[in-house]
Amino acid sequence: MSAATGPLGGHKLKLGVFNFNCSGGMTMVADSPHRVDWATMRKIAIDADELGLDAVVPVARWRGFGGSGNFNGESFEPFTWAAGLAEATERTRVFATLHLPLIHPVAAAKMAATVDHISAGRLGLNLVMGWFTEEMAMFGATQREHDARYRFGTEWLEIVNRLWSEPEPFDFDGEFFQLREVQSLPKPLSRPILINAGSSPVGLDFAAREVDFNFTSVTTIDSARELGERFRGLAAERYQRRVGVLTNAVIICRDSEREAERAYRAILDQGDWEGARNVMRVLGIESESFGEQIADFEAKFVVGFGAHAICGTPTQVAEGLLALSEAGIDGVFFGLPDYATELRPLGEKVLPLLREMDLRI
Ligand SMILES: Cc1cc2nc3c(=O)[nH]c(=O)nc-3n(C[C@H](O)[C@H](O)[C@H](O)COP(=O)(O)O)c2cc1C
Repeated sequence: MSAATGPLGGHKLKLGVFNFNCSGGMTMVADSPHRVDWATMRKIAIDADELGLDAVVPVARWRGFGGSGNFNGESFEPFTWAAGLAEATERTRVFATLHLPLIHPVAAAKMAATVDHISAGRLGLNLVMGWFTEEMAMFGATQREHDARYRFGTEWLEIVNRLWSEPEPFDFDGEFFQLREVQSLPKPLSRPILINAGSSPVGLDFAAREVDFNFTSVTTIDSARELGERFRGLAAERYQRRVGVLTNAVIICRDSEREAERAYRAILDQGDWEGARNVMRVLGIESESFGEQIADFEAKFVVGFGAHAICGTPTQVAEGLLALSEAGIDGVFFGLPDYATELRPLGEKVLPLLREMDLRI
């Protein structure tokens, strides 16, 4: 059962199910078994809830990446998704992910308060600034210069924090917003947990200053340790804050090692390589700058959207999660190739092992 103490509960290693509001989830194959329909969303969220997992976490995505599978081409909007799943679940924390430039802070503060009430105080928010330029263009929004996105985000969050906490209307005069007599009632039951997935120096600075957890992609255990230490050091020295570190991962768990390897190989065989190259192009990972590493990167994107992959038997998966925890990671928000069929058996086989390892209560 999910413990209620501390942000995201009292388990040493927090666990969340990530990215299932989008077609394909985290795995880029031509014909993914993961479907975006409401029955599937409900089933996955209820499985997560009944297993005692700590969070269900969507991605904010407005269009796919092309390629043979049009990866993430179908997606449910995160706030309304969170409202629906708040009703469907009882204990797990329900996140919304939002592009700050696309939702006015006065609207966002009230949307969050509403879902917080629906969920009886279980809302979390992943605050993202928007990196996919074509996505921003759909809104006619000009993509701000990189660091200005975080200045905008800082102002945006100041307004939202004040709307959640200040009883009286206030005026706001900033670089991006000039607002008169802003107010929002009712307040959320408690301040929603905030996470941010920035990885650049200004992104990490924003996370260290403003949120409860940085949510980051790591590719190796060593890079997880290095990033966690650097980020915690930054938060402590610059802002005297303790901020947790979450990572995303894709988990391929099968009863035998051979089956797990076969499943991994099948993903590569059916990979949407064109889609992976499209993502990498948007991210600025081009073959000119990365040379021979590019094939490895492409495979990482096909298997798990560039995130760390944990592949093997339930014991090997538990050991993979233990390694992340020992490297200083506080929680893993994971994707599965086929969430609806894989989540419950994964939970039933791996969670008891994590309890033996003292990673879960
Ligand atoms: C785990 C993780 C989850 C993310 N989720 C989203 C998302 O849902 N939508 C989005 O547009 N960007 C998302 N991003 C992108 C980040 O918000 C951010 O733009 C990116 O990590 C680059 O960092 P920077 O903004 O500091 O340069 C995510 C990144 C990571 C690592």
